[in-house]
Amino acid sequence: MTTTIHPKRIGILTSGGDCAGLNAVIRAVVKAATYKYGWEVYGIPYGTDGFIELLTGKRQPEDLRLREHGYDIPGLLQGLDVLHFLSGSVLGSISKGDPDRHANEIIQGYQKLGLYALIAIGGDGSIEIMEKLAKQAVDQGIPWNWVVVPKTIDNDVPFTDLSVGFDTAVNRVTQALYDLTFTAASHDRTMVVEVMGRDAGHLALEAGIAGGADAILIPELTPIINDGVIYGICQKLVSLRNDGRRFALIVVAEGVKNRSGQKEKYIGDYLAHEIKDYSAQLCLSGQPEFCNLDQVDTRVTVLGHLQRGGTPSSTDRLLATAFGREAIELIANGNYNQMVIWQNGRVSSVPLSRVVDQIRKARKDNKAPYRVDPQGYLVHTACDIGIYVGDMSGE
Ligand code: F6P
Repeated sequence: MTTTIHPKRIGILTSGGDCAGLNAVIRAVVKAATYKYGWEVYGIPYGTDGFIELLTGKRQPEDLRLREHGYDIPGLLQGLDVLHFLSGSVLGSISKGDPDRHANEIIQGYQKLGLYALIAIGGDGSIEIMEKLAKQAVDQGIPWNWVVVPKTIDNDVPFTDLSVGFDTAVNRVTQALYDLTFTAASHDRTMVVEVMGRDAGHLALEAGIAGGADAILIPELTPIINDGVIYGICQKLVSLRNDGRRFALIVVAEGVKNRSGQKEKYIGDYLAHEIKDYSAQLCLSGQPEFCNLDQVDTRVTVLGHLQRGGTPSSTDRLLATAFGREAIELIANGNYNQMVIWQNGRVSSVPLSRVVDQIRKARKDNKAPYRVDPQGYLVHTACDIGIYVGDMSGE
């Protein structure tokens, strides 16, 4: 297939799990591309799968054109601007699939669209997969000029302090902790709140501190739940009760593993049972201060996909807009194969090769590519105000 590149044709896709702020990036990209450069933007549906749909003829290139108008909520909002406020992805996204197996079809679909450049909004998994595709395309002599905008509620993409969607998720979890505080206090209960974060604890730690948690378990500090961790939590609960506080909030990131180092389907539930059983054991072993703990009512809340919804926070809208605009600037300057980043309060970019190296290195060690620093200021903040965060030595 010969490739006809349309010099003013830019593609955009969302890949991996959704989060708040994806649509705000799309809006910013379309605005910056059209207002400043007069380019056309094409939205690829369902991540790289959209290219296959083009190849099979299920969709035609013209169907994908994103325009300023056409997203109206009649009488309320007109044009592209409604995307600024909506979570999810108007393009659809995929977090599973086998792009390796379909690489040739994807590349041919890409060729058919004749894109000058592609903007991919994705997290670590998508970046790694798409880099392989890009290499394959280039090896076949097909130019694949692309720029990545990082997104994930886990905030574990390397080189950027913030990824799109994280701040909104922190706000959602913080709000949930606030809401649970009153029902916990009314019933003298311990509330265990399980939050997302497959391999990283940024969300649990930041929302836990902001939401007033008494204990926060994250994989960087408590990779597994063992006697020491349960003992630490029980001690914290006893000391709260001794101080007259009869309820407690415990935040646990889903990436924390059970005693055998295995992933639990619901680690919050597991933790609640462990606290009950272990405090009973401590009582029986002649430590009377723990004797009432197994009577304490404990409830577990799994926040799940609620963390990926909600209207994007102002920080996410700002970040999405700055990232979208920067992606267009990079393309305009012929600066491809970059990921936009937020560092030290400003937007810049890093070569994707460095990002991918870091992701692959972390994957080999079964770790998140960007992890909470066990010696960082947030961990110290938590410790210094008496939040139990497990073993400070981390690894
Ligand atoms: O990576 C983002 C994330 O939300 C993780 O925190 C979570 O483990 C995972 O995605 C859930 O993915 P899915 O929606 O496919 O269940």
